[in-house]
Amino acid sequence: MAKNYCTLSGDKPLIIAHRGASGLRPEHTLAAYQLAIDMGADYIEPDLVITQDGHLVARHDRYLSTTTNVSDLPEFADRKTEKPGHKGADWFVEDFTLAELKTLKARQPREGRLKRFDDNYDIPTFDEVLALAQEMSEQRGRRIGVYPETKHPTALEALGLSFDDALLSSLENHGYGTGNDPVFIQSFETGNLKRLKEKTSVRLVFLTEDVPTMSFEDIAKFASGVGPYKILLSDDELNSTGFIEKAHAAGLEVHPWTFRDDQPDARFPNKIKEARHYFDLGIDGGFFDFPDTGIAALKGYGCETSLE
Ligand code: G3P
Ligand code: CA
Repeated sequence: MAKNYCTLSGDKPLIIAHRGASGLRPEHTLAAYQLAIDMGADYIEPDLVITQDGHLVARHDRYLSTTTNVSDLPEFADRKTEKPGHKGADWFVEDFTLAELKTLKARQPREGRLKRFDDNYDIPTFDEVLALAQEMSEQRGRRIGVYPETKHPTALEALGLSFDDALLSSLENHGYGTGNDPVFIQSFETGNLKRLKEKTSVRLVFLTEDVPTMSFEDIAKFASGVGPYKILLSDDELNSTGFIEKAHAAGLEVHPWTFRDDQPDARFPNKIKEARHYFDLGIDGGFFDFPDTGIAALKGYGCETSLE
């Protein structure tokens, strides 16, 4: 059996816990991140938005109705509002102070997933996520990384909320600032990544839903990796599209999203075969809602052995 991996470095692909172990706990809660760490994930992924008083918190969206109990709380009824770019009225993180936000409880937003942990956990700050990763790294004797995504940074900067400063000062306060630290900052916004590149040596990852219009060589000028929608990497017959080869040739790691046990890809007989297909293609990491699936797929795996 081959011993090496098909990654750019030859090291094991990273298992990134997408919104924590979000398939099994309400996403972006310390409980979801903790479960992912217990499963053996290499990185935990907080999506970040910012409160009215400038604190970064872990939420996928600026609106709160789908992932919290805010609609049940009469004290915040008058905070419901309409905003440009959002369909219908909702409650928005940037209209709450951190103290107010901390009174909300998280809920599972996706149909068919466990609801029994709803209303148990609060919304964590980015600082709390970093503290958890560091405490667990020490306790478990392995480096548990953090993979923050900046959500709507440019729009929030326009509202006077300084996203970059809050992000970088939290990282600095926890001792992160170099390319060797177990941190990747990810964004769909090239402008945000280019700004960050001027301010930090932490590794940056460019997220993309489509084949990028700019060259991988140009992406490599401001990022060390690219995070594509996984479907861009192989065709219907499971042949490589060449995305990974081109990215690797430019020195970029490739970390696709999102592997979901409960959203199977019909091209594969099971979730392990799906993950191993992407490992064979050469991904350097992957975002998993159920990180134990990624861990299981790596057991006994070596590059291009999955079909043996
Ligand atoms: O960050 C990778 C992936 O999470 C991007 O999609 O929408 O789940 O944040 P989203
Ligand atoms: Ca994300």
